[in-house]
Amino acid sequence: MSELVEKAEAVAVRAYAPYSRYEVGAVARMDDGREFEGVNVENAAYPLGVCAEKSALVAAVAAGYGPGRIAAIGITASPCGGCRQWLAEFRIPEVSFRREDGSIATYEAKALLPETWDFPDS
Ligand code: THU
Repeated sequence: MSELVEKAEAVAVRAYAPYSRYEVGAVARMDDGREFEGVNVENAAYPLGVCAEKSALVAAVAAGYGPGRIAAIGITASPCGGCRQWLAEFRIPEVSFRREDGSIATYEAKALLPETWDFPDS
């Protein structure tokens, strides 16, 4: 959904990315319309940084939402492999992001990670 990607672009200015200078934003919309924002937050110990999608999902879960309740997410850029696993975990039906060429891509989370590893009895 392009509206969520545009909202994510507005949120990205609040990213904390002093090392890469690559600012990412994400906005997750719940089934009741509530929205949670996320930005990437980097750290001087580089691997400890957190991606924008993950921080939006963490905020949603902290507010009581989980799999089946997250209707859509908009991201400023194509999600990394680790974030694709996170998006799949929450079974998000609509994941939209801005492509390099400026167009908007929309996929079901699972389509972004074919044959996704999942917990055996989940
Ligand atoms: N980043 C995200 O926030 N989401 C992604 O899916 C890809 C990468 C962040 C991590 C790091 O702070 C910066 O972008 C450069 O990799």
